[in-house]
Amino acid sequence: MHRNSLKGLLRHEVGKALEWADAGPADVVVGADGPGWLAHCPEWPGSAGAAALVHAGFERLRDRRGMEQLNEVGRALASEQNLDRLLDLILTHGRGLVRAEAGSIYLALDGETGRELLFAHTQNARVDLPYHRFRVPVSVDSMAGFTALTGETLNIPDVYLIGPEAPYRFNPSFDVQAGYRTTSMLVIPLTDTEGQVLGVLQFINRLDEAGTPEPFGGEQERLALSLAGQAGVAMRNAKLRADIEALFEHFVNASVTAIEQRDPVTSGHSGRVAQLTVGLAEAVNRTSGGPFGTTRFSSAQLRELRYASLLHDFGKVGVREEVLVKSKKLPPGRLELLLQRLRQRQGELAMARLRGDWEAGRSFDPGAWAALMRAQEEEAGQLMAALIRSNEPTVLSQEVADGLGLMERLSYTRWDGQAAGILEPADLAALSIRKGSLSEAERLEIESHVTHTFNFLARIPWTADLAGIPGIAYAHHERLNGKGYPRRLLEADIPVQSRAMAIADIFDALTAQDRPYKAAVPLTRSLDILAQDARDGHVDPDLLQIFIEARVFDRTQPAP
Ligand SMILES: [Fe+2]
Ligand SMILES: [Fe+2]
Repeated sequence: MHRNSLKGLLRHEVGKALEWADAGPADVVVGADGPGWLAHCPEWPGSAGAAALVHAGFERLRDRRGMEQLNEVGRALASEQNLDRLLDLILTHGRGLVRAEAGSIYLALDGETGRELLFAHTQNARVDLPYHRFRVPVSVDSMAGFTALTGETLNIPDVYLIGPEAPYRFNPSFDVQAGYRTTSMLVIPLTDTEGQVLGVLQFINRLDEAGTPEPFGGEQERLALSLAGQAGVAMRNAKLRADIEALFEHFVNASVTAIEQRDPVTSGHSGRVAQLTVGLAEAVNRTSGGPFGTTRFSSAQLRELRYASLLHDFGKVGVREEVLVKSKKLPPGRLELLLQRLRQRQGELAMARLRGDWEAGRSFDPGAWAALMRAQEEEAGQLMAALIRSNEPTVLSQEVADGLGLMERLSYTRWDGQAAGILEPADLAALSIRKGSLSEAERLEIESHVTHTFNFLARIPWTADLAGIPGIAYAHHERLNGKGYPRRLLEADIPVQSRAMAIADIFDALTAQDRPYKAAVPLTRSLDILAQDARDGHVDPDLLQIFIEARVFDRTQPAP
């Protein structure tokens, strides 16, 4: 080709290159800063110059493509919050960047005897062997250990040719087992921004265009190092997130322990309510028709619901224990005291009779005395039975109420010699509770556990995806018809999650077999009671239908 026409052709090409160089940085195209010496060059730079130019442009393009790929990878890594999936992504993208057939990741952990490397993840395009996670102490003997200890990158063209002078060895056991041939290997430290080694990234067998292993070049080393930097940051973030999650998990479990230690007879209630509530939400997720046909709870929402369920009764720690565990109308020990007073009264009556007879000079009549004693014993027995019956949390019958009225007037001699009523006003008030074991004030105190729960949960700086926990737990005693507590919310204001929890809560309270003072209600009877609750507007009928049809209750019912 004539020199001039070649020059013209090249000018045209270079003109295009310079246009590109104006838009992008020009340094690589021309090898120097500024608009480029070729633009001012009056002479043809010669074929070597032209070749260098084209080569430089090609390198630049490739670098740019590498940068773009790296950016893309960086974004992908930053958006993955699960550590296992992140490790998989790092290997997938990393292998793509450096064109490696296989790769593995080791994580640096603190073991019992010092730093250890956990073989955490591996990928191999040629052989697919199941792998097991294992731990090895960090030592310079292995390539990964060497890199973890020194922070140095190893770029080995052929691992079988590592010389005896190197401190590390290649472990061929995988090759032997899998019939594989590891050739080139690039071993890079995964470090966080503070330079702490989080793990080691290994790329194995860079492949050429024909798919044959070749050594990793300097460019792959640079790319892999950049990737490792991004991976380190992403891993640190995922780890922090996992730490926060673990913190919440342990905190929730510790809180559940605290509630159940307070009220051991309901132990297990929080866990069962969580199982049932989450089970119901998962059943809703599988439902395609009806009012909840399009309702779907994400895995984050299910976790939020589980925590809210585990903590729904946490506020019970703010309720006095004697009220919380109260199973009879009288406080513990009080019944025995009152019975003892009745017994004392019986003795006092006999003594008074004896004294009267003696003072009147009447002789002792054993038959009359025995009859009197029998009559008094019978009366005391009736009074005691009435007292015991009226202490039970069942509905107060008229007969028992009458018995109480009778007892109101009875007296005995107190320790200080004064006559006093056997029943004090507080005893009468407690025994006159018409239904259940709680007075109005005690009932309100128990109900206040919901507000305590909310106040407690609202103080915790939950992460964004758990922010609904206080609100969900706050509404677990609300009823669709507005007859719930503490806020008397109406249907539209009660979150679906809280409605699901209400069903689980009632079901467990009915069927629980762990309360000594209350027999467990059989399954079918419990479901009937819930169905009646739904008809009365207490619980959500559609959710209850899903609860029953999906047999969510099987989750906590002992196998028949
Ligand atoms: Fe509750
Ligand atoms: Fe509960």
